[in-house]
Amino acid sequence: MSLTKAEKQSIIDLANMARQRAYVPYSKYPVGSALRTKAGKIYTGVNIENAAYPQTMCAERVAIFKAVSEGEMEFEAISVVTDNGGSPCGGCRQVMAEFGLDTIVLMADGNGNLVKETTVKELLPEAFTPEKLVNK
Ligand code: THU
Repeated sequence: MSLTKAEKQSIIDLANMARQRAYVPYSKYPVGSALRTKAGKIYTGVNIENAAYPQTMCAERVAIFKAVSEGEMEFEAISVVTDNGGSPCGGCRQVMAEFGLDTIVLMADGNGNLVKETTVKELLPEAFTPEKLVNK
């Protein structure tokens, strides 16, 4: 099932609104994300920083972990919204890959404009996926 333009814009807008709740006292770079499951449920996330910098958590992973912790693992699309339309970091790409290489990734800027539409497969070629583990 593919998403309509309005459905794509909706997860961009939800991520952009969530961005207001980003906790970013150090970078001042708020990121918002919204994850849409195959069943149409939506989970949002924001980046949450920490005085011990490496403990920071990215917005995309917050959204994914919220979904997985609620029993949802089949994803249709994920949006990531930043001031400048930045792309997901390597760690988030790896976490996305765990749950499917075909998930659509929408990157948008702070005005809610789509900057790039791609897939996890394109963002992380030759991904290390669960199937690669021999003793899975
Ligand atoms: N950040 C995200 O939330 N997602 C990404 O994919 C890239 C980086 C956050 C982490 C940190 O709070 C801030 O952006 C600057 O790196």
